[in-house]
Amino acid sequence: MIVLGIETSCDETGIAIYDGLKHKLLANALFSQIDLHAQYGGVVPELASRDHVAKLIPLTKEALAHAGLTLEDIDTIAYTAMPGLVGALMVGATFAKTLSYMLDIPAIAIHHLEGHLLAPLLSEEAKPEYPYVALLVSGGHTQLIAVKSFGQYELLGESIDDAAGEAFDKTAKLLGLPYPGGPHLASLAEQGRAGVFTFPRPMCDRPGFDFSFSGLKTAVLNTWQAQEDQSGQIKADIAYAFQEALIDTIVIKCKRVLKHTGMKNLVVSGGVSANKGLRSALSELALKNRWQVYYPPLAYCTDNGAMIAIAGAYRLANGFVDQDMVINVKPRAPLNL
Ligand SMILES: Nc1ncnc2c1ncn2[C@@H]1O[C@H](COP(=O)(O)OP(=O)(O)OP(=O)(O)O)[C@@H](O)[C@H]1O
Ligand SMILES: [Mg+2]
Repeated sequence: MIVLGIETSCDETGIAIYDGLKHKLLANALFSQIDLHAQYGGVVPELASRDHVAKLIPLTKEALAHAGLTLEDIDTIAYTAMPGLVGALMVGATFAKTLSYMLDIPAIAIHHLEGHLLAPLLSEEAKPEYPYVALLVSGGHTQLIAVKSFGQYELLGESIDDAAGEAFDKTAKLLGLPYPGGPHLASLAEQGRAGVFTFPRPMCDRPGFDFSFSGLKTAVLNTWQAQEDQSGQIKADIAYAFQEALIDTIVIKCKRVLKHTGMKNLVVSGGVSANKGLRSALSELALKNRWQVYYPPLAYCTDNGAMIAIAGAYRLANGFVDQDMVINVKPRAPLNL
């Protein structure tokens, strides 16, 4: 069962080919539009859509060549249908439905966040077993989800304002770091000194599993503006303290949710799951409590076609197939399709 995965929800065009029977990724072609949007300091939706149009066919050819396959070898298409930029989603969905019509094969609508949640299954290492708690930390979402079995998602907590990745990006921007700031801020934080600055751990002093990161960003802004010496070292110290506060907050909430649910497995995914500090803090938490923690391979933390292809393979195996030709993309959508 060969699945072609198509990802176009934001600023990455991703095409991947996954063999659902052998559980093997055969090809993964990706084009990141970062350079296109960097000059504007953020994603310009119209430019994103136009670039997806330009890249889909060449990337599909590249993926097929890498896998040594032709279009006729594809059994199913899986495409991101939600959530995301509507224009960008429309491009991927139209491409998917056209291939589906032309090849007379199914096209399965995938929820982008389900793709992120399944990305750890692309790892060669041990795979998570149900039930588990999923921590999704991406550019647009920060969520804690109880996953009882495939496709059964219960949202337990989420950010009431900025997502973790968004907080990284906005904080990086105010410190004058290049777009997208998350990875730049993380590497600057490695040169920072512990204990020079301390920022709040928002919403940790009250019960519940929700997050709030916009106050943290404002605390950084105020501290940064109050510095007479805005040298590189001070900037690194602030980056360190910001990242430490954000990671601490996430660790506190993960611990709380795992204790509350009694689950022993934690799956971490989304762009921020690439963060080294977050990985080591969560791994330490898991070790202390004899929990297991799983991450996607680094290359599959941010958006890619492989996570959409594997989600398609799992959807197909579980009997979810969208056969009609309606194109129904959504900018926002809860995870339970
Ligand atoms: N090493 C890192 N440390 C911190 N943040 C990181 C790191 N690497 C990537 N990020 C952040 O991850 C985010 C991108 O992740 P992802 O591609 O999963 O998000 P998205 O697709 O924009 O959002 P969503 O999936 O919620 O729609 C950006 O905010 C980026 O700064
Ligand atoms: Mg994403």
